[in-house]
Amino acid sequence: MKKVFVVFGTRPEAIKMAPVVKELQKRDGIRTIVCVTAQHRAMLDQVLEVFHIKPDYDLDIMEPGQTLTTITTKVLTKLESILLDEQPDMMLVHGDTTTAMAASLAAFYQHIPVGHVEAGLRTYDLYSPFPEEMNRQIIDRIAFRLYAPTDASKSHLEGNLNNEQKILVTGNTAIDALKATVGGNYTHPVLGWVDDRRMILLTTHRRENLGKPMRQIFDAINRVTADFEDVCVVYPIHLNPKIQSLAQEILSDNAKVKIIDPLDVLDFHNFAKRAYLILSDSGGVQEEAPSLNTPVLVLRETTERPEGIKAGTLKLVGTESEKIYRETTHLLNDSASYERMAKARNPYGDGFASRYIVDDVIEFLK
Ligand code: UD1
Ligand code: UDP
Repeated sequence: MKKVFVVFGTRPEAIKMAPVVKELQKRDGIRTIVCVTAQHRAMLDQVLEVFHIKPDYDLDIMEPGQTLTTITTKVLTKLESILLDEQPDMMLVHGDTTTAMAASLAAFYQHIPVGHVEAGLRTYDLYSPFPEEMNRQIIDRIAFRLYAPTDASKSHLEGNLNNEQKILVTGNTAIDALKATVGGNYTHPVLGWVDDRRMILLTTHRRENLGKPMRQIFDAINRVTADFEDVCVVYPIHLNPKIQSLAQEILSDNAKVKIIDPLDVLDFHNFAKRAYLILSDSGGVQEEAPSLNTPVLVLRETTERPEGIKAGTLKLVGTESEKIYRETTHLLNDSASYERMAKARNPYGDGFASRYIVDDVIEFLK
């Protein structure tokens, strides 16, 4: 029996690895070992619950005020003995978090081949997003199997391969996850509060946006809600205390902004579908939006997800208050521009990415 060791630690990794874990568990001849680092605790556990995944190992590393160094060293140290004991035939990691980077390094040190789900994304700006751009470049150097979501991500990997490496274009497993969450007669008490107003769904958490950029984002939100009677904002806030205190300071007096705990993924996907517009600096949200026909103004200076921009669903607006205010009011006032963005084509595959990935894992392990 071949052993596949799957590692993830944060909310977005869990959401996009859950379909892969489910697919692995369906196959004969493979023992799937799930190891969570719990770089995120509550936000990870929400996802595990929705997808009914019970980890075999929980490194439980999260601590308040954790740094890139503490995350990296804890993951490396704690994985070492587990990998020595388990001797897996392959490790799968996802994306660009520090969990994924440190786990792939831990595997490399023990000659365990790594498969990288969501390989090949690039901004080529090492500080945006930070530290994710470096993390993904490190993982892409280490991994034997590079599961690129699109041809564009594949093109970033070609011409720079080690002898052992192979690229496969699979689509993005985020689309597989959406099939499990969106639809039905979805209701939620917060949607009752929204009522028939236009809902802007807001998410922000990027490290490079902490401080002044985030302050400017929140200022823009206050200006927009002051101008439009029929617009409200729902903000499922990240659990990072730095974000919580700034949001409290700038947004808590605004009755048209509802700050709520992070939504579980089933709720969030349905909110995203129902939203009139999303304002976000999230990576995952940029992948999901084209499938949900909801325009996104991306609160970042760069994106490694040009596919959504090409599809017309995303627009990069940066973090300057005036620009965010202008672009948001434009979409709220100009229905033709809005409709163009809302009529999207999903560029991220057919929703069977996890099947293609697991087929290749089995082929690789033969
Ligand atoms: C991490 C990832 C980022 C990813 C994001 C998804 C790195 C370096 N960053 O950033 O790529 O986009 O997750 O959200 O890997 N916290 C809690 N409970 C939770 C989760 C977080 O209390 O369930 C708080 C903790 O105080 C923690 C802080 O949030 O110290 C920041 O978490 P951390 O994982 O270090 O960074 P993120 O900004 O979440
Ligand atoms: N998400 C969620 N609940 C929320 C906000 C986001 O489940 O309250 C989901 C969202 O659908 C996407 C993922 O979390 O799949 C994105 O995570 P995040 O923005 O934290 O990280 P990133 O994708 O930027 O790395």
